[in-house]
Amino acid sequence: DIAALQGIEKGSVRLAILTTVKYVVPKLLGSFAAAHPGIEVAMVVGNRDALLQRLAANQDDLYILGQPPQEWDVVSEPFADNPLVLVAPPDHPLARERAIDPRRLEGEPFILREPGSGTRATMQRFFDALGVRVRARLEVGSNEAIKQTVAGGLGLAVLSAHTVAAELALGELVQLDVQGFPLLRQWHVVYPRGKRLSPAAAAFKDWLYAHRGQASAPARRPPAARRARGRSGA
Ligand code: PGA
Repeated sequence: DIAALQGIEKGSVRLAILTTVKYVVPKLLGSFAAAHPGIEVAMVVGNRDALLQRLAANQDDLYILGQPPQEWDVVSEPFADNPLVLVAPPDHPLARERAIDPRRLEGEPFILREPGSGTRATMQRFFDALGVRVRARLEVGSNEAIKQTVAGGLGLAVLSAHTVAAELALGELVQLDVQGFPLLRQWHVVYPRGKRLSPAAAAFKDWLYAHRGQASAPARRPPAARRARGRSGA
């Protein structure tokens, strides 16, 4: 009816997204704003723990995060792939090798995300399961800063492929071909099960799903051809 229609054309959506999602969804927002000029979108960006705290406190309408804790009473719909890749500076000795045994990374210096980061926890689980101890050289609370630190030669890092697409394409970073990588994660659109979404929030969710193809993950395999050409990077 008309009231419901008006509801869709006005109002606001409070959205909370992961630090990795901010490389994808904000770029697509223009088409939502164009289709729904009356709806305001407020967006906060945080790591996994921060978003789970906001969800527990019911602070936002919709969340885009990894897997919510199983015992939580939430609606959680898969949204897009979030592969985690292992990146290195282009002149790293392992940059030209294929199917590297992860045990060869024992003792390698790594740049880690902050505690509370889902990226960090996933990486830690992978190496712990193999009994491989990587060396935490530096802890940095930003994907952006980690990329620069890796490019500067301080160590390796595990990052969402979405966050490093540009640097890999430019050859400023390379993806190491380590067995078991990429680590496969997924983003989900999540909200409390009991919560009735406002028309604006429901419109936003529909729009998100209509555009999920554009949020699909970058290449999953290391670009062997590029490595073979021996780019030296910036
Ligand atoms: P985060 O996001 O590392 O910023 O927490 C990624 C994730 O949880 O998958």
